[in-house]
Amino acid sequence: MANLITILNGPNLNLLGQREPEKYGTTTLAEVESQCAALAGELGLATEAFQSNHEGALLDRIHAARETSAGIIINPAAYSHTSVALFDALSSFEGPVLEVHISNIHRREAFRHHSYVSARAEGVIAGFGTEGYLLALRRMASLLSA
Ligand code: DQA
Repeated sequence: MANLITILNGPNLNLLGQREPEKYGTTTLAEVESQCAALAGELGLATEAFQSNHEGALLDRIHAARETSAGIIINPAAYSHTSVALFDALSSFEGPVLEVHISNIHRREAFRHHSYVSARAEGVIAGFGTEGYLLALRRMASLLSA
């Protein structure tokens, strides 16, 4: 629990690497998850990764993380812009929450500029490609060691 980080990815991110590669790159979600696991090992952390296209499944995983995890890194994908329920679930989690967007949502359509999750997150990374997950993990390590 002290060193476990839950990494959550929302809808359509199972298609990472195939879906709109000009926006999201060619790295697959499996590759991102294994890069995170490797970096976590170097940082003295461990990761468990979960992706779902279903809002309720993400909520259940956040509730489970309350008992198992020290921090959450989440790319809520399209649910960022719609889900009060994700905001509420993350608010029930006591540890740090970091939000990641692969693309720079502020340079895209206006409907992507607001994220409900950002109001709960300790920090937000957007537009750094899939490297953003690794940057978030490094930040998580410093937050947890502070
Ligand atoms: C995204 C940005 C969202 O607006 C979009 O719905 C996604 C991915 C990103 O990582 O850039 O699915 O969260």
